[in-house]
Amino acid sequence: MALISTSSHDAAALLNQNDIVAIPTETVYGLAGNAFNEKAIKKIFELKKRPFYNPLIVHIKSVADLNQIATEIPEKALLLADAFWPGPLTLVLKRQNTIPDLVTGGKNTVAVRVPNHPVALALLEQLDFPLAAPSANPFGSISPTKAQHVADYFTNSPLTILEGGECQSGIESTIIGFEEGSAVLYRLGSITIEEIEAVIGILKIKTHDEETPSAPGMLSKHYAPKTKTVLTENITTELALFSTKTIGLLSYQNHFHHQHIVSNEVLSPTGDLKEAASRLYNALHKLDQLKLDVIIAERFPDYGLGRTINDRLERATKK
Ligand code: TXA
Ligand code: MG
Repeated sequence: MALISTSSHDAAALLNQNDIVAIPTETVYGLAGNAFNEKAIKKIFELKKRPFYNPLIVHIKSVADLNQIATEIPEKALLLADAFWPGPLTLVLKRQNTIPDLVTGGKNTVAVRVPNHPVALALLEQLDFPLAAPSANPFGSISPTKAQHVADYFTNSPLTILEGGECQSGIESTIIGFEEGSAVLYRLGSITIEEIEAVIGILKIKTHDEETPSAPGMLSKHYAPKTKTVLTENITTELALFSTKTIGLLSYQNHFHHQHIVSNEVLSPTGDLKEAASRLYNALHKLDQLKLDVIIAERFPDYGLGRTINDRLERATKK
């Protein structure tokens, strides 16, 4: 049985024994363990059923700890850290040898960020080591934005989940790496391309290189509900195609009416993309639990966080 706890003291004790704990962050809940300890990291991969080639993000309490993890840090990385940490930006940097190969998937780089969540930061303060943590969902499924989502995924595991409320951003961190002096976007996330380019100028975008993914979060099928999900530009047209089925609808601003709609999650009636992003996964979790024939999701405007939301919806609807 997974257990939801409010004690960061208990969580710290477990982590000190190289056990793993689910922790809140501002993006999604993570499955955390001592980033320096191979045994702890192995437990994360086992519980998540994640392939070993897919590396983890290391969470540190402040930029001051960056040198423990990474080396030869580019100027642009420091500018980004300064602008966005603590916050939902992950930097892929040259690794230090203190980090086990298991964390980096054997790469010579390591992914690192400072989470912007009071519970996560208070926990990191109590520890002598950083926390490696992937999102706290079984490999390939929707990331959890509430402690209860994690508990629902791991009902049969003796996992402690540290309660931190609902995640404010609700969508994973943006991942940026550096190749030959240029900043490269590996995963769209909570910080928009526009926000990043305002700090360091033009970004190269490499999120669709599916043959050799730099960030396997980019593997095409990912973030997927169990229910068949389709993405559409036009809900009314799509509804006509599914006239005899039970339908869950995920729409941006408007409610739709149709006799077969069992539930309609509207992500932001006022058209606020930030609000829509923060509600996306919770809405998908809710619709998925209704065991409907199909979830129909509306495509978002393709800028800012709309672009990130579309990326996740595209992956959720890949066959
Ligand atoms: O918001 C987040 O980033 C959440 C919270 C818990 O921090 N974490 C998260 O972790 O989304 P995960 O494991 O679900 O996704 C981590 C992504 C993967 O796509 C992985 O391939 C990429 O980070 N990654 C990790 N290390 C990398 C590296 N050295 N080079 C390129 N990509 C890397
Ligand atoms: Mg994930």
